Amino acid sequence: MTKNLTPEQLEIVAGLMQTPATVSPKYFYDAKGSALFEDITLLPEYYPTRTEQAIMAAHAPAIAQAIGNQCTVIELGAGNCQKARSLCELIQPLAYLAVDISEAFLQQAVASMREAFPSLAIHVLAFDLTADIALPTTLPAQRRLVFYPGSSIGNFDPPHALALLSRMRGLMNEDGALLIGVDLVKDTAVLNAAYDDAAGTTAAFNLNLLDHLNRLIGSDFDVTQWQHLAFFNAEQSRIEMHLEARVDLVVRWPGAARSFSRGERIHTESSYKYRVDDFVDLLRCAGLPHAQVWTDEKGWFAVVLARP
Ligand code: AVJ
Repeated sequence: MTKNLTPEQLEIVAGLMQTPATVSPKYFYDAKGSALFEDITLLPEYYPTRTEQAIMAAHAPAIAQAIGNQCTVIELGAGNCQKARSLCELIQPLAYLAVDISEAFLQQAVASMREAFPSLAIHVLAFDLTADIALPTTLPAQRRLVFYPGSSIGNFDPPHALALLSRMRGLMNEDGALLIGVDLVKDTAVLNAAYDDAAGTTAAFNLNLLDHLNRLIGSDFDVTQWQHLAFFNAEQSRIEMHLEARVDLVVRWPGAARSFSRGERIHTESSYKYRVDDFVDLLRCAGLPHAQVWTDEKGWFAVVLARP
């Protein structure tokens, strides 16, 4: 039997032993994976990041006016803080709290935020969003704006998305708001290309997960035995990413092993795509019934400001 596993290792091993095997997409983001994700956001096929930026830029005055100034911004999954920079220029908040799973990455990103916004009170919190968030007690309670850009909400299935949105509602008073980016349902070919790009960057991002797992649980995944697979599942309204075994193989790690037949898959990510009305319904269920929605002219992506 396996022993002395950390909760993280236990979670990974439990997922690998399932049929079909699953691994949480949060394990994409080691240093190399985070860099590959930044490359993805620049790919011609990957429209979400640039479409969200274009919506924010095109509607900046309306968005800024709707939010108001002197709020406290709480950004979830802050990453490199690039989106927070644009937002802070737009609305001049009093305080900014960056929450992300990776502390080291955050400290680095926040250091440059401190230089750019010397009068802004900047706080940092390393936290996994799937757990309950305990905010620093020094954070102002009034006029909180929870900021969750990039359509990261898509990684959660609808019940878990609802639970997360409800927790976000719980971070604010009646005078707070949520500013969130959501990727929308569109032509399947556009969706598939965004997650299976010609340059192979998304494939490298998906496969890099195996190297990361090798370090996290001491497994011996051979990346050359696996291939990237991504497709839109219309019934579930989600992009699915999988890693598919190219041959019959065995993966070993201290305490256990798992064999995979050729063609067997590990489900590594789901990225849900919404229709605007369905997402607004979800927000209402989460206690955020007042939504303002901005989209691009193709209707590919939405930026939503939702209030209690
Ligand atoms: C960071 C979850 C928004 O689902 O589009 C990009 C991650 N995966 N390409 C997404 C991702 C493959 C991304 N999110």
